[in-house]
Amino acid sequence: MNSVSYAFLNNAPVIPVIAIENLDHAVPLAEALVAGGIVNLEVTLRTEHGLKAISLIRDQVKGANVGVGTVCSANEFDAAIDAGANFVVSPGQSDALFERALLTNIPFFPGAVTATEVMAAKEAGFKVLKFFPASTSGGAAAIKAFAGPFADLQFVPTGGINLENASSYLSLSNVRAVGGSWLTPRDAIYSGQWDDITQIAREASELGAYLGEPLHGSC
Ligand code: 3PG
Repeated sequence: MNSVSYAFLNNAPVIPVIAIENLDHAVPLAEALVAGGIVNLEVTLRTEHGLKAISLIRDQVKGANVGVGTVCSANEFDAAIDAGANFVVSPGQSDALFERALLTNIPFFPGAVTATEVMAAKEAGFKVLKFFPASTSGGAAAIKAFAGPFADLQFVPTGGINLENASSYLSLSNVRAVGGSWLTPRDAIYSGQWDDITQIAREASELGAYLGEPLHGSC
């Protein structure tokens, strides 16, 4: 666990939260995002195609760093690693997930939005936490407040984040990255407008400039 590195977030701190409804979309969508500089891709297990999409992207999309999201059980954790996921994101946390993650060197982002949940994840050994759903859990102000008692932790907020408000999160010293589904509009995917998605990815990539310096690279 101690050798887990989150450095992959440094150059691409905006992570699309992807739900693949049609497996044929997986590769062209990932290619479009990577072409726009968005290389860390969270493919969720919200659809039946999640695991297969992870494998396809891992095998076919050069430059992509594919991870898995919406992991709610140890079995899902294992299946996603087998499929080729390089990082694992959960909307919440459980002892079973903590135990499984601690057996690996895979970066794991347990979800936490209350001080008690943050303390539980910290006690288990995790230092970079998903903060979900961000917008209804106090938003950037809540994460900023966590910098007091939890100065050694960093957060990856998702939920209600978009191009307009992402900078208010990224500019916080304890935000390591942001995520969201705004990078993968359903209409554009279904109509195959991959150039539009690359353009959205380019705009999102520029948000990296809002990242502050103090804590980056510390995990
Ligand atoms: C997540 O799991 O991170 C969220 O579903 C993303 O939320 P959004 O759709 O509001 O971006």
